[in-house]
Amino acid sequence: MTFIKGDFFVSLLLNYSIMVATTDITVNKAEQSKLNDFSFEHLPFGKYFTDHMLEADYENGEWKNVEIKPYQPLLLSPSLAALHYGQSIFEGIKAYRDKEGNAYIFRPQDNFRRFNISAERMAMPHVPEEIFIEGMKQLVALDKNWIPNKEDHSLYIRPFMFSTDEVIGVKPSETYKFLILLSPTGPYYSAPARIYVEEHYVRAVNGGIGYAKAAGNYAGAMYATAQAKKKGYDQVLWTDAFEHKYVQEIGTMNVVIIIGDKAITPDLAAGTILDGVTRNSVLTILKEAGFTIEERPISIDEIINAYKANTLKEVFGTGTAATISPIQELRYKDFVMTFETEKWTISPMVKKVLTDIREGRREDKFGWMVKV
Ligand code: COI
Repeated sequence: MTFIKGDFFVSLLLNYSIMVATTDITVNKAEQSKLNDFSFEHLPFGKYFTDHMLEADYENGEWKNVEIKPYQPLLLSPSLAALHYGQSIFEGIKAYRDKEGNAYIFRPQDNFRRFNISAERMAMPHVPEEIFIEGMKQLVALDKNWIPNKEDHSLYIRPFMFSTDEVIGVKPSETYKFLILLSPTGPYYSAPARIYVEEHYVRAVNGGIGYAKAAGNYAGAMYATAQAKKKGYDQVLWTDAFEHKYVQEIGTMNVVIIIGDKAITPDLAAGTILDGVTRNSVLTILKEAGFTIEERPISIDEIINAYKANTLKEVFGTGTAATISPIQELRYKDFVMTFETEKWTISPMVKKVLTDIREGRREDKFGWMVKV
């Protein structure tokens, strides 16, 4: 008797359904958390996952089966369209905990908007806010004890969608899966980066998919990056496809160049640059700090001339995973620019403002933190 009663309450606690706007999110909780056996020491980026994930299916023009469930493998057909033609997009977002233990997500609405821009470009359906945002909040709330309580650490949130038609004809799929995973994570780069300016391979071209957070953009970058690594560099700085003259992005990050009192970053007009949420946050902080912000094409010659004239102060990458990554060496052909990053003050200031806002030590006057 007691057993049946207990069982009933356990199943009530483990399985429930939340109605969010028009979408039901079913919650099936893990019977046991993996947290007890988990160490937050030396956390690499993206290797460990929390107790739960969110999964939803798109079929017949609507999203259904929205479920938060224990983190588990997927069973997929070998003819799955995404595996063959790469209709697959993702986002990267971070969650933090304040001193009182409240969980916050950093600018999720901006990633939500960008996700659906990527979806549009890749001929995929939009994911509605009640699944992307509300589902994410539910998931983070459920696994909030997985948010590391350490400086430079966070809970990395990975929403993604891929096509699931089981057919190898080339066409937009009629069915899709949307998932959200959570990964407690440490710093992405452990040291200032050495960067090779790429002038043969290209990441993006006008009219292409550079502005979309499409899986293929990352796959296409791997070979050139591997070549740069063989030469002793960490990442490449992409240049434009026509002249290899104007800089685009660094590896998985946007690039910001400080020349005098100007913060310069490539503009988004050609559709070759990812509209980074961290990029936007960094420009906002730099503007507040009195820098003139210039979003415009910037050539490698302009960077070299500023370096030679001693007006090039700092070059750094910005991204969700990396936050801010200082560049200690930038090589273009045989010309090597080196920087004493330990003497820099601008990017460390921006990083401090950003982390203080995220970790609740500074007023969030831009309204970036969303409480879960
Ligand atoms: C992010 O910063 O979230 C990224 O997209 C980088 C990721 C590919 C590791």
